[in-house]
Amino acid sequence: MVKLSPSILSANLMRLEDELKKVEDLSDSIHVDVMDGLFVPNISFGMPLVKLLRENTTLPIDVHLMIVDPDRYVKTFVELGANSVWVHVEACTHLHRSVENIKKLGVQAFVCLNPATPLSSLEEILPYVDGVLLMTVNPGFGGQRFIPTMMEKIRKLRRMVSERELDIRIAVDGGIGESNAKEVAKAGADLLIMGSGVFNADNPRETLKRLRLLFHRE
Ligand code: DX5
Ligand code: ZN
Repeated sequence: MVKLSPSILSANLMRLEDELKKVEDLSDSIHVDVMDGLFVPNISFGMPLVKLLRENTTLPIDVHLMIVDPDRYVKTFVELGANSVWVHVEACTHLHRSVENIKKLGVQAFVCLNPATPLSSLEEILPYVDGVLLMTVNPGFGGQRFIPTMMEKIRKLRRMVSERELDIRIAVDGGIGESNAKEVAKAGADLLIMGSGVFNADNPRETLKRLRLLFHRE
């Protein structure tokens, strides 16, 4: 079953409560992009927002850490209510240790790959993770275009996971919306993260409803 996760990076933060209400019952989780201005060129938000979200929704909160040395903050985000923590292979010197630390805290561990990072970097870590996130844009900003060659990368990862008979999710993040969601899912993704594709749509709620229907029929 394909899961849908709106990214609040593209939501109107002044009206976050209303934005959340629009999508809550149609979403499987809420995606929070934490950026430090070092690992990625942008600075977004951090702990206070995760705390507020936890107080205001029962949806699982996925915290995508686009920060240098993410191990420093994993425990804090879990204590604030994150249900899964996502770290980049490019940001972790001891990736296995990072993943084990996340799991020890009782939440799911996802590892993320930038577009130019090859799937071979997952070789040794794959059996330990709950999911893999393939970035389909260069991380840092919402509203960018899906990089077309990432479609084949999704297919390859799906094959890799099937061949090893692993039970892990394949998430994709960046440039996903109504126009390509189906193709991305067909390539093998089963968790679609969407920022501008949902929150910048004319009607976020109707957009999500249509997406839900799209995958329900299959
Ligand atoms: C980008 C973030 C994404 C972002 C996606 O660095 O990781 O989660 O919100 O935005 P869209 O869906 O607009 O490409
Ligand atoms: Zn993200």
